[in-house]
Amino acid sequence: MDEQFLITGAARGLGLAMTRQLLESGVRISALVRAESDALRDLQARHEGRLDVHVADVSDEASIRQTFGEVAERRGHLDAIINNAVIYLDGSRPVLEEADLSICARTFEVNSVGPLRVAKHGLPLLRKGKRKLLVNVSSEAGSIGDCRRTTEFAYCMSKSALNMGSKLLQNYLAPQGIKVLVLHPGWFNSSGKGPAPISAEQAAVKVLETILKPQPLDGPMYVDPSGKPLPW
Ligand SMILES: NC(=O)c1ccc[n+]([C@@H]2O[C@H](COP(=O)([O-])OP(=O)(O)OC[C@H]3O[C@@H](n4cnc5c(N)ncnc54)[C@H](OP(=O)(O)O)[C@@H]3O)[C@@H](O)[C@H]2O)c1
Repeated sequence: MDEQFLITGAARGLGLAMTRQLLESGVRISALVRAESDALRDLQARHEGRLDVHVADVSDEASIRQTFGEVAERRGHLDAIINNAVIYLDGSRPVLEEADLSICARTFEVNSVGPLRVAKHGLPLLRKGKRKLLVNVSSEAGSIGDCRRTTEFAYCMSKSALNMGSKLLQNYLAPQGIKVLVLHPGWFNSSGKGPAPISAEQAAVKVLETILKPQPLDGPMYVDPSGKPLPW
């Protein structure tokens, strides 16, 4: 597959797993990370010239602008952008009376506005690509229709806001032939341990199967890992 993708939050978890699997299938990757890592250096050595690592922060617009300047110079276009970076500050999931609401603003900056910053500066390159796909990795936690939780205000609200931002973008970008996919990747253990039934590597297999299928502009937009629509 002779394509160029950009992935945010690629240093670990699902972002690293998608980076590894896409490189193995022949896709070239621009990895946006907060800090370089041994795992990425190792992948660069194994896939010489096909993995660029850009240090940036999705909450810092200047660093995002600079990253896309570098990608434009080095690669000239992008076939897909995968907004995967996230922060989760809800910790032990306190009920409202005990919650520290100051985490909400920071969580929104990264999880909801971050993907818009990336899209804002990445669109010129996406318009030059063939696949024309913007994937915003969201969560079932952002679904208002399916919500059964009583806590995790910052994370859940940040993903609902991301969903709305994605829909606004899709309305804007559909006439330009760009698809926006809002993807719940399933429940997985991103750091190799935890109570989830699958690893980030296993989650990435399913997620990439869906991402790499043709995504018609009038097809579902907010989907689970197998591509099944979720209630907004
Ligand atoms: N895990 C699950 O079960 C699950 C379920 C539903 C949805 N999701 C979604 O799947 C995606 C990946 O989740 P994950 O569990 O793999 O996450 P993760 O292991 O916590 O990794 C998140 C990545 O995002 C990066 N990041 C955080 N803040 C950033 C910033 N300001 N700028 C740039 N990068 C930043 C982190 O960088 P550092 O390495 O520097 O910290 C890290 O590499 C997320 O969008 C998440 O909401 C996950």
